[in-house]
Amino acid sequence: MTGPARLDDIAVAPLAGRRALVTGGSRGIGAGIVRRLAADGAAVAFTYREAKGAADSLEQEITGSGGQAWAIQADSAEPEAVRMAVAGAVERFDGLDVLVNNAGVSHVAPVEEFSLADFDRLVAVNVRAVFVAIQAALPYLGASGRIVSIGSVLADRAPIGGVSVYSLTKAGVAGLSRSLARELGPRGITVNTVQPGPVETDLNPDSGEFADAIRAMTAVGHYAQPRDIADAVAFLARAEAGFVTGASWNVDGGYAL
Ligand SMILES: NC(=O)c1ccc[n+]([C@@H]2O[C@H](COP(=O)([O-])OP(=O)(O)OC[C@H]3O[C@@H](n4cnc5c(N)ncnc54)[C@H](OP(=O)(O)O)[C@@H]3O)[C@@H](O)[C@H]2O)c1
Repeated sequence: MTGPARLDDIAVAPLAGRRALVTGGSRGIGAGIVRRLAADGAAVAFTYREAKGAADSLEQEITGSGGQAWAIQADSAEPEAVRMAVAGAVERFDGLDVLVNNAGVSHVAPVEEFSLADFDRLVAVNVRAVFVAIQAALPYLGASGRIVSIGSVLADRAPIGGVSVYSLTKAGVAGLSRSLARELGPRGITVNTVQPGPVETDLNPDSGEFADAIRAMTAVGHYAQPRDIADAVAFLARAEAGFVTGASWNVDGGYAL
């Protein structure tokens, strides 16, 4: 089929036939994205670093309900591991249509106490791995290829201290995506950043020390759930979303407006 899918096809399985790789899919936002893409009909490979139990159980949850999922151990801090994960997903599903760069790490510390080791770790996982995965995926992404990276509203806002390096990495992701959108647009490949506000995950528990203050900074008065972010990603992953590119979408409940 060369034209857009019929509306009733979209409603039933908007990502049917699409093949996706999600980095950091074993827990939190990534697991929400894996579930949502699979529910929309995509075959979804996802990476994890160490939570094999959680990754295996998510794979089984999806395959057990008739979907397609495949867990791959791959540390995003290791470029070769990222390249192998992309190659593995391509081999398993005979191609790739959607890359979701979700794996990310945070470290909170005042600037004088921020070690270079932590700086390098955040840059390696949050930025370099995004670049490496995109480079590795590009030979396989055809027209209607989709690249979605999970940034953060902290790329644009500075409501709290101690997150300067994290903010730097997420601003880097947004800049990389915007520029690549320009470069890859003529090939029909879109590149977008979804910028969550506070989402209830292990990284940012809604019962944590600063949770009440964070909640108060949202317009809606509560944290997001991973599925709230996954909804935005699932839309951007569709072939029909081809006119949205270079965007940084805040899905943040009006955080730090
Ligand atoms: N939660 C928030 O409020 C929030 C807000 C804005 C942006 N974000 C961004 O959203 C993304 C997901 O965050 P989250 O809250 O879902 O985090 P999370 O609950 O800590 O989950 C992180 C996921 O990424 C994986 N991961 C971490 N480091 C990895 C590495 N080096 N290699 C491969 N996988 C790795 C983890 O795998 P394992 O299970 O194996 O450890 C896990 O699946 C991150 O990019 C984060 O910066 C989060």
